Amino acid sequence: MLMKYFLLALCYLKLERFTEAKQDCDAALKLEPTNKKAFYRRALANKGLKDYLACSSDLQEVLQQDPSVQEAEKELEEVTVLLRQSLAHASPAKPRTTVPITEVDGDEETSVSPDSEGSCRGDITINLQPTNVYEFGQALNAARCSGNTTACTDLLASAAPEMLPQYLSTQLDGHTISFIMQVLDSHLLEKDPNLVYQHLNHLHTTDRFSTVLMMLEKDDRRHMTHLFEHLSAVESTEFTKNDVQNLANKYI
Ligand SMILES: *[C@@H]1O[C@H](CO)[C@@H](O)[C@H](O)[C@H]1NC(C)=O
Repeated sequence: MLMKYFLLALCYLKLERFTEAKQDCDAALKLEPTNKKAFYRRALANKGLKDYLACSSDLQEVLQQDPSVQEAEKELEEVTVLLRQSLAHASPAKPRTTVPITEVDGDEETSVSPDSEGSCRGDITINLQPTNVYEFGQALNAARCSGNTTACTDLLASAAPEMLPQYLSTQLDGHTISFIMQVLDSHLLEKDPNLVYQHLNHLHTTDRFSTVLMMLEKDDRRHMTHLFEHLSAVESTEFTKNDVQNLANKYI
């Protein structure tokens, strides 16, 4: 069965019938969700369909399973360029509504330990109703240290997107970004895609964001690409696929 889909996918790719090729890869991946060849062929189909975000996501999946696949590495380099070009030519995003940033009382000076592992010792009581920057930082840190995605989901669900950069400014590091991305993707997206979009729309304005982004591990990048891919598949009245692509450009 799997073999049949594979061969079909290959034929369709050769015939440049990318939609059919993609469908056969989807079918193959249903039967065997970790099959790297199916991911690779679907990446080529997505490339043919000019869906570079999905293509990039598939290629990263291949490389995650087997970092030695040089064709995938090469394709990924090429498709990253194509993705950037397509984003550069995308129509400009809708003008943003500006949101006044309200100051949070006090505590700006008290910063959570900024070392990259964060302060992962001891105490894992998580305050799910932080009232200021410091408490939010502590709660998020505690959630990350104990791998408590439920607590992190609750924290992000109740945080105002425009406050996120301030909340995170004291402790932005790769671990935190990566944990937030995972939670947005696997927990919050299903419940509230508009909030995920809004959070992402503000998160990248946090101080030092681009520096931290450059230091992310491959796995973390893969999570991020997945998140944007999932988000761009969402039908929403508050953002378009194009908005998501423009936003992805700030991250990927
Ligand atoms: C996550 O944190 C919340 C709030 O502190 C707590 O009630 C819950 O038991 C924690 N879950 C896990 C799996 O540790």
